Amino acid sequence: MTTDSPEKLLAPVLSAHWDEADAYTLAGYRRHEGYQGLRKALAMDPDDVIAYVKDAGLRGRGGAGFPTGMKWQFIPQGDELPHYLVVNADESEPGTCKDIPLLFANPHSLIEGIVIACHAIRSGHAFIYLRGEVVPVLRRLHEAVREAYEAGYLGKDALGPGKDLELTVHAGAGAYICGEETALLDSLEGRRGQPRLRPPFPAVAGLYACPTVVNNVESIASVPALMNKGKEWFRTMGSEKSPGFTLYSLSGHVARPGQYEAPLGVTLRQLLDMSGGMRPGRRLKFWTPGGSSTPMLTDEHLDVPLDYEGVGGAGSMLGTKALQCFDETTCVVRAVTRWTEFYAHESCGKCTPCREGTYWLVQLLHDIEKGAAGPSDLDKLADIADNINGKSFCALGDGAAAPIFSSLQYFREEYERHLAGRGCPFDPAAATAWA
Ligand code: NAI
Ligand code: SF4
Repeated sequence: MTTDSPEKLLAPVLSAHWDEADAYTLAGYRRHEGYQGLRKALAMDPDDVIAYVKDAGLRGRGGAGFPTGMKWQFIPQGDELPHYLVVNADESEPGTCKDIPLLFANPHSLIEGIVIACHAIRSGHAFIYLRGEVVPVLRRLHEAVREAYEAGYLGKDALGPGKDLELTVHAGAGAYICGEETALLDSLEGRRGQPRLRPPFPAVAGLYACPTVVNNVESIASVPALMNKGKEWFRTMGSEKSPGFTLYSLSGHVARPGQYEAPLGVTLRQLLDMSGGMRPGRRLKFWTPGGSSTPMLTDEHLDVPLDYEGVGGAGSMLGTKALQCFDETTCVVRAVTRWTEFYAHESCGKCTPCREGTYWLVQLLHDIEKGAAGPSDLDKLADIADNINGKSFCALGDGAAAPIFSSLQYFREEYERHLAGRGCPFDPAAATAWA
């Protein structure tokens, strides 16, 4: 990988044909070697497919980066219970917008990946849990599934003689917590979506208490190209521990926001070069590597490799690769307040630290924003976040605490300026007080 020539980093795989008018159809997909990876996978023993994906080093693209092949391997073999594959298409992390465009532009890459994964884990029924609000994507997905059934990729004998494969598309009702894998399973079973205790992990007791693989859309959609072009090819991109290509969502004060495909390990500086940089005349103040649930970074971190190890080394997490970029006109307290309101609203209420803590955080942040808080309130803010972090039932609590800790780490002085009793220094309405 070069560092001085961003265009050389572009080897689009997932997004290679998104701008073709019929990319979402079966014909459009087949024109570019669609379903060729499946042909190769079906000729292999299921265990060999798992070993192949494991060797390639594909890591889950939903946020946690868990090795995909290893997750498939956890499914017990030779048991009597049905196995399920559930694709998590409930993308809702703030700033994250890559699975939905992928599904809209190229749903067959997901369907092909689903058939390969079901062959590998010996599953006869897969589900796609999609955000219900994205109706055009839902319609397109239904149409692609219909085409795949008609072409024999799904349905009777899809995985070989006597091995049928059903695929069900389920539209969720738009709750952030239903993206958490066990809450998603509850919701799919018709219950209120709330996280379950783990372990047991879904691989042991998932949908209807049966062994279940839950994978993100992009993880599964990456499998066909990997199988078709080979694990060695896959490993030519990215780094040793984080190989392959991926989709980054760039948003905020950048000249050309959108989805950018690049190898893992690219830097924000390189992605900004690809996307026309920050708004004219503006400079980067802070950004998130993987949505608001990952600790924010600053302009000191422009050259951090965007892979799991690189971002981890900078004290954050790669997460969903949602790069929200904010320039110097942004009030960090306002941004953090807005995110915290989101977490308080989306908290499912199951555990006290998150349910109560996010509410208190919002109250305190509102006071700070208004200039109505005192000096000890910043310590109180950190203390409440500390009582949520690591003490909540699921990752939502940790996600809510992350922007509080990191903003205090990098921008404590900006919080302190709000305490001076004159309101927000970035608010035009308070300009007189700050003159
Ligand atoms: P996790 O690290 O607990 O688990 C990751 C995956 O590995 C899960 O599928 C889990 O079942 C599996 N796993 C882990 N240990 C296992 C074991 N010992 N045996 C079997 N399976 C095992 O992460 P989690 O809580 O599932 O997800 C957190 C991530 O989700 C965050 O990093 C965040 O970035 C991301 N996220 C993504 C959102 C989106 O819109 N895509 C929204 C919110 C969070
Ligand atoms: Fe629900 Fe929040 Fe507890 Fe998760 S951390 S179980 S979202 S209350």
